[in-house]
Formats: sequence, C-alpha cells, structure tokens
Amino acid sequence: MFQADLLKGRTILVTGGGTGLGRSMALRFAELGASLFLVGRREEPLAKTCEEIRAKGSPTGYTCCDVRDFAAVEKAVAAAESQLGRVDTLVNNAAGNFIARTEKLSPNAFNAVVGIVLQGTFYCTLVLARKWIAARQSGNILNIAATYAAVGSGSGFVVPSACAKAGVLAMTRSLAVEWARYHIRLNAIAPGPFPTEGAWSRLLPAKELEERARQGHPMKRFGRHEELANLAAYLLSNMSEYVNGECVVIDGGLWLRGAGEFNDFVDFPDAAWDVLEAARKNPSSGEPKS
Ligand code: COA
Repeated sequence: MFQADLLKGRTILVTGGGTGLGRSMALRFAELGASLFLVGRREEPLAKTCEEIRAKGSPTGYTCCDVRDFAAVEKAVAAAESQLGRVDTLVNNAAGNFIARTEKLSPNAFNAVVGIVLQGTFYCTLVLARKWIAARQSGNILNIAATYAAVGSGSGFVVPSACAKAGVLAMTRSLAVEWARYHIRLNAIAPGPFPTEGAWSRLLPAKELEERARQGHPMKRFGRHEELANLAAYLLSNMSEYVNGECVVIDGGLWLRGAGEFNDFVDFPDAAWDVLEAARKNPSSGEPKS
C-alpha cells in the first residue's frame, strides 16, 4: 500500500524502541526509508533492535535513557543529533503499566507510571519541539494513548495508566492547536490488545486471562504488530498532513463492544435467539415475572 520510500529523509526518535510495539514500529519505519534513533532503559534490546534496523540498510543509533529524567532526555536528543543529524519526528511510545487494585497502590507506584507515560512524553516533546521552533523547522509527533483514555471512559485496575494516558491525549490535542503555527503536527494512536512481552506479563499474566480476553473480543483475535506499525507510518507521513490532534483507535472494535448496551448478545448461542424470537412472537411468554 505504501511506497517503499514513504519515510525517506526522515529521522525518527522512538522511546521504548528496543522492544514490543516500539521495536515493531521502528523496524517498519526503517523499511520505509527512515533513519531511527532508539531510546530506552536497557541497552541489550536497544542494541539488538538497532542491529536489525542496520541489516535493513537504514542508519540507526541508540542511547540508554529513562524518560522520567529531563536531563537524560536532553542528553539523548543531543546523542541522536550527533549520530544521525536533525531529528524531525518523535514517537512517544515508552510506557509503564500493571494491573492492580488501586487501594493497594503506593504513591510511588502511581508516580512510576505517570512519570514514564505522562511526564516522559512531555519531556521528550518539549526538548524536541523547542529545537524545532527555534530553528523554524517543522516536526511530527505521534503519541501512544489507550482506548480507555481515548474515549474518555477510564478503566478500573489500571488507574495510574488511565490518568496518564488521558493526560497524553489532552497534551496531543492541546499542542496540535498551539503548535500548528510552527508546523508541528501531533497525533495519537489508541491501541487495543497487541501482544507484547511487556504488556502481557503485566496485564494478562496467565493463559486463562489471555484466552478470556481473546474470546471477549468481537473479532476473537488480538492485533498484529504490522497493523499498528502501518497506521503509525501513515500518521507520520506526509500523506496525513491534514490530520492533526487526532487519536485513531485500532482495537478491532473492542471498546465499542463495551459501549453498546446489548453487545453481550454476540455470545448468545442460536438456541437463546430462538427463545428470544419466540418471546417476540408471543409477547406474554417474555414478560418479566415480578
Ligand atoms: N502492583 C503494584 N505496585 C507495583 C507493581 C504492581 N504490579 N509493580 C511495581 N509497583 C510499585 C513498586 O512497588 C514501587 O513502589 P514502592 O517504591 O512504593 O514499593 C513502584 O511501583 C515503582 O516500582 P519499580 O519497580 O521500582 O519502578 P520502575 O521504575 O523500575 O518500574 C514500572 C516501572 C513499575 C512501571 C514497571 O512495571 C516497568 O518498568 N514497566 C515498563 C514496561 C511496561 O510496563 N510495559 C507495559 C506497557 S503496557
């Protein structure tokens, strides 16, 4: 669908780019001609992903950086520029999340997730955008939100993440307007379930939970990494130049399933439908008993 040089000439910094969806996006962007700079906390996956990118023939580099540390983000951007030249595109992908009953959380648990997701996104955005504005150069930012933030619904048991992702979405929409005059474009993706080691080990840590999630999905499957990576490539490319401040949900219709009052009927066996239809033809048999 895309031309092989869709992202040619672009230099993209991906946070959390060594593993999971960050890695998948980085590899796809490299296939489409971009140079990639990866940041993350652990060196090993960063180095490994960079090797894979290099094997595709794209310039690449990495540095270890915890996005919660503003000075470290400044250093990481400087390292990217010295290795690859000007960075024109940022993907705020680094995230932290876990399933927990909120009343059991320590203040530090809340801070850890909000620090990575919300502050980290802001720090990377601020460091790069200041440079773009000062140099009168355009820029492109893609943030990773979540469906429980995108639709304003929230979600129990992931409260720090829900709060942080809602903030990321507010940032995306606010800055899309504020910085359009500088030719800085911001969009977001709200992914549904995409299997990654990081998310699965923290959110669906048992086979039964995974199977339950699959069976509860309208399409009875999880997302494929290339599906998200292609959407990300489109949103970063010039093909979507007039898309700004948008959050695109990619979840196979999962959040809509929760939104519709009668959506649980998808699990009804035919026999249950026969009973319902019989009740409709003979209304008295379907009357609720007091
Ligand atoms: N339930 C409750 N609290 C938890 C927790 C869990 N599953 N995991 C960590 N915490 C708490 C810790 O106890 C600690 O609080 P304390 O200091 O009061 O004891 C706090 O969170 C920070 O944990 P720590 O492991 O020191 O932080 P970290 O900065 O090394 O890790 C996390 C950050 C917690 C977000 C970690 O899960 C992580 O690194 N995640 C990155 C990858 C990821 O989450 N991917 C999924 C994205 S969907």
